[in-house]
Amino acid sequence: MSEQATPVDVPRRAGATSVPPPSHLSPEVLERAHQLISLYPEPRSALIPLCHLAQEQDGWLTPEAMADIAGLVGVTPTEVLGTASFYDMLHTEPVGTHVVAVCTNIACLLGGAAELLEHAERSLGVNAGGTTADGAITLEEAECLADCDRVPCVQVNHRFVGAQTPESFDALVADLRSGARVDDIPPHGTLIRVRRTEGLQADRAQVATERAAMAEAQAGRAAAAEAAKAETGTSTTGSGS
Ligand code: FES
Repeated sequence: MSEQATPVDVPRRAGATSVPPPSHLSPEVLERAHQLISLYPEPRSALIPLCHLAQEQDGWLTPEAMADIAGLVGVTPTEVLGTASFYDMLHTEPVGTHVVAVCTNIACLLGGAAELLEHAERSLGVNAGGTTADGAITLEEAECLADCDRVPCVQVNHRFVGAQTPESFDALVADLRSGARVDDIPPHGTLIRVRRTEGLQADRAQVATERAAMAEAQAGRAAAAEAAKAETGTSTTGSGS
């Protein structure tokens, strides 16, 4: 696929007002955004990938980025927020450069997760959910991270770092702060460093045909409902005379 960005026509939803051009996302991110959008039959299908792209730029999903994304895919900023807020991996509030998640689900709990989390809160000086004053670390309490045979399980920016003791946890945090782990743990927001170049191969003509059939069916049901309503009204009027 060409590296050149290919802006696509973005259909506006009914009632959507015109939006200003993107002003927050960088030119490089915008180019990648257009490439992503071009992979899908419908621009709005790229909404979540674009949220990750914006989160990679800023570390979290800012209101300005959500406004840009809304304009790019033809929805409202509220719809972007509504979608993003559903997913744990998208942060609509600022977070630290490293989001450290400690699993406290059953296997990890039995393996000392509660004690580890207490230690983490003490050593970082924040409660779970908080961010250190230097902005380096956000501490999260997580549900099962699917690494139950290495307990207590810890992830940093969604990378597994293996079972941790209080001592190894402190060493891990020191490495994160010094940048010693940047090769395997990039700053928060970077999901992958390999770029996807191929997307859904849905046939746009087939999508259009299926949509037209759906619209026709919907119109038919609406007409039948109206006819039934009118019929009921006629019967009622007739029986009352
Ligand atoms: S219970 Fe902690 S990773 Fe599954």
